[in-house]
Amino acid sequence: MSKTNAKDSGFTLTDNQTGKTWEFEGHTGSMKNRLIDIRSLYSTTGILTYDPGFTSTAACKSDITYIDGQKGILLHRGYPIEDLAEHSDYMEVCYLLLYGNLPSPEQKASFDMEIRHHTWLHEQLARFYQGFMRSAHPMAIMVGVVGALSAFYHDSTDINDPEQRQLAAHRIIAKMPNIGACAYKYSLGRPFPTPINSHTYSENLLQMMFSHTSEEYKVNPILAKAVDRLLILHADHEQNASTSTVRLAGSSGANPYACIASGIASLWGPAHGGANEAVLNMLDEIGSIANVKKYIAKAQDKEDPFRLMGFGHRVYKNYDPRAKVMQKSCHEVLSTLGIDDPRLELAMRLEEIALSDDYFLEKKLFPNVDFYSGIVMKALGFPTSMFTVMFAIGRSVGWIAHWKEMLGDGEQKIGRPRQFYTGHAKRKYTPVGSRGHTPNKVSWSWLWRGNKKNAKPKDGNQKPALAEKG
Ligand code: CMC
Repeated sequence: MSKTNAKDSGFTLTDNQTGKTWEFEGHTGSMKNRLIDIRSLYSTTGILTYDPGFTSTAACKSDITYIDGQKGILLHRGYPIEDLAEHSDYMEVCYLLLYGNLPSPEQKASFDMEIRHHTWLHEQLARFYQGFMRSAHPMAIMVGVVGALSAFYHDSTDINDPEQRQLAAHRIIAKMPNIGACAYKYSLGRPFPTPINSHTYSENLLQMMFSHTSEEYKVNPILAKAVDRLLILHADHEQNASTSTVRLAGSSGANPYACIASGIASLWGPAHGGANEAVLNMLDEIGSIANVKKYIAKAQDKEDPFRLMGFGHRVYKNYDPRAKVMQKSCHEVLSTLGIDDPRLELAMRLEEIALSDDYFLEKKLFPNVDFYSGIVMKALGFPTSMFTVMFAIGRSVGWIAHWKEMLGDGEQKIGRPRQFYTGHAKRKYTPVGSRGHTPNKVSWSWLWRGNKKNAKPKDGNQKPALAEKG
């Protein structure tokens, strides 16, 4: 148990079928957060817990990030996200997440220097891009290229060597902007960028994305500051889907590059990091304030798969504190750059209407970080398809911090969830010639159930779709 956890009075579980009781340890964390330690549940009772989506399950202990979803609080290593976004910079937040404390000036300078000197990509890795279609989504390229790093940097794949682990961590943080910028340049058919070591992390990111070989590129400090804040706001968010994916992949002893590639794949989905791209597409689809009410109604219709993208969160049942900072940043960026994007007005009207609507109030659905980040990125010049890449660049440090923490946690085991089996009981195999005849279907789509939003509750005795049809 971590130093900040204390055993408390514990819990008693009663089986109402038999009246049998069992005792389980309870723990109280540093923020008075409580848990039931059920690790011995199955071995002592033979009973499993059922928790799809892990809504009530802590899969690990962590000292990195704390969220109070009811109050809308987010702390990294104890520091409020608002303070970090206002006063810190991305490199410092990376150090904080990785090493646990804010760096001294010397530690900051040396960490900064270390990251700046790992920004290059191996020449052969750059050739790897040629295998992708020019029209490939940059996130598809990110998954492939980051996974491929393990084929290039063999001196940093031994997870049992702390030096190699650190080297891999620094390499990933350093190379992500370059890998992302190359994905963008590749889609345009332009030469790959060269990182400039005198630039800060965010300046370099902008320079690699938007400079041309034939023209001098001067980094606009206002844009660099906005990019830096965006990266800070995405740096970590405890056990979200992609971070849990990285931990799960890493729990088998997989190398760090493969683990981060798995995180990127998970992030891509529209319910997670892909939401920033989806928000912008949604605003374009809504088109004008006159249509807002229609789309608010669509989002509430259970027969309609439409959801208000950038709204709702598994943990926050209050305003996402990152969204508040992002909204402020959005106004600042647009006014400083003199951009009049009608999507901002549309987003604000959408937010206003949603936040006064009973459906959203009852379900406690508030704007999340992705609601305004797309408008900010658009103003900064990023194409929509690069939005989730920007999220991935910012989040890479969070993934690595959790991967590192997991490897150092003696209580962690290979991730291996259990299941509640609801299929057939044991049955006898029948040779194909002796089976009944069913007409062949042209398409296999009948094997798949419809979308989740329309799915009817499943009767416990119902047979799986495959068996029904076959
Ligand atoms: N629009 C309309 N209804 C919604 C929305 C939404 N955006 N989000 C949740 N609901 C409803 C949902 O239909 C459900 O209703 P009911 O209880 O009647 O079935 C209820 O609210 C609870 O939703 P849920 O899907 O069970 O909640 P969850 O915790 O599993 O999902 C979420 C969280 C973020 C996936 C979901 O709110 C969502 O799909 N939001 C839109 C996508 C989005 O913005 N994602 C970015 C998340 S923040 C960035 C990040 O960290 O990745």
